[in-house]
Amino acid sequence: MADMAEEVRALKREKNAVVLAHYYAPEEAQAAADFVGDSFYLAKAAVQTDADTIVFCGVHFMGESAKILNPSRRVLMPDLAADCAMAHMAAEEQIEKLRAEIKDLAVVCYINSTAKIKSLSDVCVTSSNAVKIVRALPEKNILFIPDQNLGGFVAKQVPEKNFYYSGGYCPVHAVLLAEDVLGEKRAHPAARVLTHPECTESVRAVSDYIGSTAEIIAYAEKSGAEEFIVCTEPGVLYELRARCPGKKFYPAAPECLDMKRNTLAGIRECLLRGCGEIVMDEAEMKGAERPLRRMLELAE
Ligand code: 13P
Ligand code: SF4
Repeated sequence: MADMAEEVRALKREKNAVVLAHYYAPEEAQAAADFVGDSFYLAKAAVQTDADTIVFCGVHFMGESAKILNPSRRVLMPDLAADCAMAHMAAEEQIEKLRAEIKDLAVVCYINSTAKIKSLSDVCVTSSNAVKIVRALPEKNILFIPDQNLGGFVAKQVPEKNFYYSGGYCPVHAVLLAEDVLGEKRAHPAARVLTHPECTESVRAVSDYIGSTAEIIAYAEKSGAEEFIVCTEPGVLYELRARCPGKKFYPAAPECLDMKRNTLAGIRECLLRGCGEIVMDEAEMKGAERPLRRMLELAE
C-alpha cells in the first residue's frame, strides 16, 4: 500500500492532477487526497483548481457537478459505477405538475441528484447550505427534491415557507432507527448524538446536533464532550479521529458501499490510464450549470 501511495503521488505530479475525496470515501482514498471535505467544499474545490485533471473519489453526481462547474478540466472517477441511489429519486412529471399548479414556487434540488433533475430546478443546495439558501429565496412555496429528510429538516428551520416533497431518501441513512440510537445512548450515556440531516425525523429528534459531515466534524472538534454517537456514514470517523485524538466515536449508521468503490488501486488506475472519465453532452451540462452556479452565489 505504501508503494502504491507513493506511485499515486508521482502520478499526480506527472499528470498535474488533484485528488478530491468525500469524507465517506475509504481511508486510503482520503489519505491520498489533496482536498477532503463535504459536498459543498468539494464542489468549490473543483471550481477553484487549476490542475488539468480532477480525480473525484465520491459518487457519480459529484463527478458530474465538478465537470459542469469546471468543464475545461478532465474529471476522472476511480469507479464510474459509484452512484447515489437517492440521486434518481425525483420524477420529472411531478416537478412539471407542481410548477403548473402552484404559484410562487421554487424547485430546490439537493446536489445529490442527476444532471437532468438539476436542470429542471431553480437552485441546488447541499446539506451545509440548504437552510441559508431556502431562507434567501423570494418564493413562498418550496418543492424540495429528492431528499424528503433533508427537506423536512430545512422546513423546521424555515417555518415561514410551505414545503412539498418528492419522497426520495438516502437508503444508507434511512435504515437507521431511533431505537438503534437510543440503544447506543444506553450503552454510552455520556455520548452526544451527532446526526446528518438525511436521517429520518425520529432519529433527528433524539439527536444533540444535526449537520453536514463537515459540520459534524467541526462540532465534535469544538465540543467539550469526550464521546459521540455518529449517525452518518462511518467514513467520517477517519477525519474525526485525526482531528479529535483522545475522543471516542461510536458509529451508528451502515456504510455507503458506492462510496467504498473509491479504492487506492482505482485512483492509480485512472491516473495511469485516464479511464473513468466523466463525459457529458453540452446541453446536459448547460441545464445543470445554472442551478449549481446559483447555489454558489447564494451560499456566499
Ligand atoms: P454532505 O453534504 O455532508 O457532504 O453529505 C453528502 C452525502 O451524500 C450524505 O449522504
Ligand atoms: Fe447517496 Fe446516501 Fe451514499 Fe450519500 S450516503 S452518497 S446520499 S446513497
